Amino acid sequence: MRSAFEVRCNADDQPFSGDELRTALAEADALCATVSDHIPAAVFPDAPRCRIIANFGVGVNHIDLAVARAKGVAVTNTPDVLTECTADLAMALILMSARRAGEGERMLRGGQWRGWRPTEMLGARVWGQTLGIVGMGRIGIALARRAHHGFGMRILCFSRSPVPVSVLGGLPAEQIDSLEALLPEVDFLSLHCPANAESHHLLNVARLALMRPTAHLINTSRGGVVDEQALADALSSSAIAGAGLDVYAAEPQVSEALLRLPNVVLLPHLGSATEATREAMGFRALENLKAFFAGKAPRDLCH
Ligand code: DGY
Repeated sequence: MRSAFEVRCNADDQPFSGDELRTALAEADALCATVSDHIPAAVFPDAPRCRIIANFGVGVNHIDLAVARAKGVAVTNTPDVLTECTADLAMALILMSARRAGEGERMLRGGQWRGWRPTEMLGARVWGQTLGIVGMGRIGIALARRAHHGFGMRILCFSRSPVPVSVLGGLPAEQIDSLEALLPEVDFLSLHCPANAESHHLLNVARLALMRPTAHLINTSRGGVVDEQALADALSSSAIAGAGLDVYAAEPQVSEALLRLPNVVLLPHLGSATEATREAMGFRALENLKAFFAGKAPRDLCH
């Protein structure tokens, strides 16, 4: 970025406060933001100098897109380059939750392991089970590929609009008409829908109650898609068997109710956290900025 622009870095990597973001939008021609930079309407100055927010990440729910549009600020994101790594992490969470990997590691490190026993830490089989995917976009499809071809899983999916068969690339994924019809059918449910007003608390008390008591919920999308208190209640009452989470409603805070439970795997938003992917995200943001300031349409324009 320094080779193409005059860059001011957020050197200590602390999320900017509202005031710092307002100053950046008022003084810089472009802002390269991350998921930790909350940019609601109140943060936009009346007449921003900033003409583009090049988000370093695919999700843009932390930015008020309508206000950005109204103020003439373009917003871009970094799709594609994080698809495979995020799908890897969702698969890791399925395995960790089913096989109680977090619990087992805590027990071993805590010095409580007494050796192999026939009934110790029995988990659930992943091979051949049914996986439900909510949001059959790039990451949902990448997870479905892994689960079907690698783990012999049956794939059921639900998306806001039906996914054209050509997009599924030969995957035998059965599209289900409603979330209510999907939930009772799956052993694992993985969320891959964008966070917006429609998907807020999509997994609530009523819908969690439709899941099997043996089922596991996996979330690598956004925390707000799940009602965390309802999930904690479902896990503590054994209404569902387990969960694997990478995202939270109020990051970096994680609710005490979840932290106390043994049957939930909690990761710190690691979906795209590989060296290769984070580099690719950076280059994609740079490409968007260069195109914009060369007077071309950036390839990842969100509006
Ligand atoms: C994204 O890109 O939206 C991830 O959540 C962070 O990489």
